[in-house]
Amino acid sequence: MAKHKDQFKCTACDGLTAKWQGQCPHCGEWNTLEAHEEVVRSAKRVKVAGSPPPFYSLSNPDEPSRYASGIGEFDRVVGGGLMEGSIVLLGGDPGVGKSTLALQLCKEYVEKNIKVCYFSGEESVGQLALRAKRLGLENDDLKISNEVELSKVLAGLESEKPKVAIIDSIQTSYSPNLDSLPGSPNQVRECTSELMTLGKKNNITIILIGHITKSGVIAGPKLLEHIVDTVLYLEGDKQHYFRILRSVKNRFGATHEIGIFEMKQEGLVGVANPGDMFLSERKKGATGSVVTCGMEGSRPLLVEIQALAARAAYGTPQRHASGIDQKRLQLLLAVIERQLDIPVSQYDIFVNIVGGMKLKEPAMDLPVIAAIYSSVKNIPLPDNTAVIGEVGLTGETRSVMRVEQRVKEAVRMGFDRLILPASVKKKIDNKKITFKFIKDIVELIGPQV
Ligand SMILES: Nc1ncnc2c1ncn2[C@@H]1O[C@H](COP(=O)(O)OP(=O)(O)OP(=O)(O)O)[C@@H](O)[C@H]1O
Ligand SMILES: [Mg+2]
Repeated sequence: MAKHKDQFKCTACDGLTAKWQGQCPHCGEWNTLEAHEEVVRSAKRVKVAGSPPPFYSLSNPDEPSRYASGIGEFDRVVGGGLMEGSIVLLGGDPGVGKSTLALQLCKEYVEKNIKVCYFSGEESVGQLALRAKRLGLENDDLKISNEVELSKVLAGLESEKPKVAIIDSIQTSYSPNLDSLPGSPNQVRECTSELMTLGKKNNITIILIGHITKSGVIAGPKLLEHIVDTVLYLEGDKQHYFRILRSVKNRFGATHEIGIFEMKQEGLVGVANPGDMFLSERKKGATGSVVTCGMEGSRPLLVEIQALAARAAYGTPQRHASGIDQKRLQLLLAVIERQLDIPVSQYDIFVNIVGGMKLKEPAMDLPVIAAIYSSVKNIPLPDNTAVIGEVGLTGETRSVMRVEQRVKEAVRMGFDRLILPASVKKKIDNKKITFKFIKDIVELIGPQV
């Protein structure tokens, strides 16, 4: 006999609570508890029954194919194109460009004779047509529907049998079998699992567009991320013109790959050379400005780190980090104060990665220290210099992953003087440029820098 039990479930950690409260008692997140109805069934042992399922060998599987869209930045992020029959969750802030990217994919696929159905629960066909015109989608083969009811969407997919289907968005889809409102965790989960079952059975690749909550996770249960094959996030704040497509889970390719796009009138345009974009407005000879090379997935990215040190007006100096980790900044300031004997506690310190990039990796340590030192002492670094390296608590420099690739990218972008940790010396072999290998940050401020 099934019983219904009312509980509250956290959208961030999936923890259950008996009563609603502002803060989740499990993970400490605020405003993440949502009503959750759990069907409790009396436990019954499953009996062995029916004919056994078919078993397959791994030696002769049917190789699934990939649908390469031709949008290079997208294909790379998903591992060379969407895998046939896979289910992909595309999340992002409101207005970031999820529907735009989805429609651009439709354009590429229909032009390659790959049948696509687009279920738009958020925009009318007229609104979609306007966007399609802007994106240059003239092909009439794209099947568009405004249907949001799950059974009808499933019927549509069964009869059309497209290769790719887009559900924009999973929060507007609803199943009449459940009492809860569209967008509630139960609805989102039910719709996803039904769509997935049908998709896998008919070999349809399904892209689910999902909204993200204030705390940055895809709205609905975290469970959704476990069900689907690939989770992509489209990021980028409105103040900046570029958007980053990030893969956080991929059963068929590397994760933490990124694709960089620029939002233009004609849609999201891939940026092949992001270094040019991030360094284009750099002021030559400025103090507090240091160029470094970060890694995003397998991709090296040249960025400018800026630091500003200003005499603190009040007792507690301000520390502000944008693009790097705030706690890491505090740690690096303590290292500077102790190892370089510079009274940074008398300064307000602001550190920013230009262009809105976020690089929270240890390789940013040495360039951040160099930028802060340059600003405090009012000494600019030579323009052709790039700095890469991790720094430990005793001020020693440490090697960073993929240093050869970073150096190559810096050289390609015209930097011919590199400051690196001493431990990477044996890995680097380039006679054309000048290297300064340093053992600790005291050597960083030596007269030859
Ligand atoms: N004519 C235009 N030129 C350049 N960019 C535009 C133009 N029209 C719209 N945009 C951009 O497209 C964005 C909206 O994209 P889109 O509707 O794909 O976002 P979304 O992520 O699907 O949003 P939502 O969550 O509301 O569905 C706008 O924020 C704007 O940056
Ligand atoms: Mg949209």
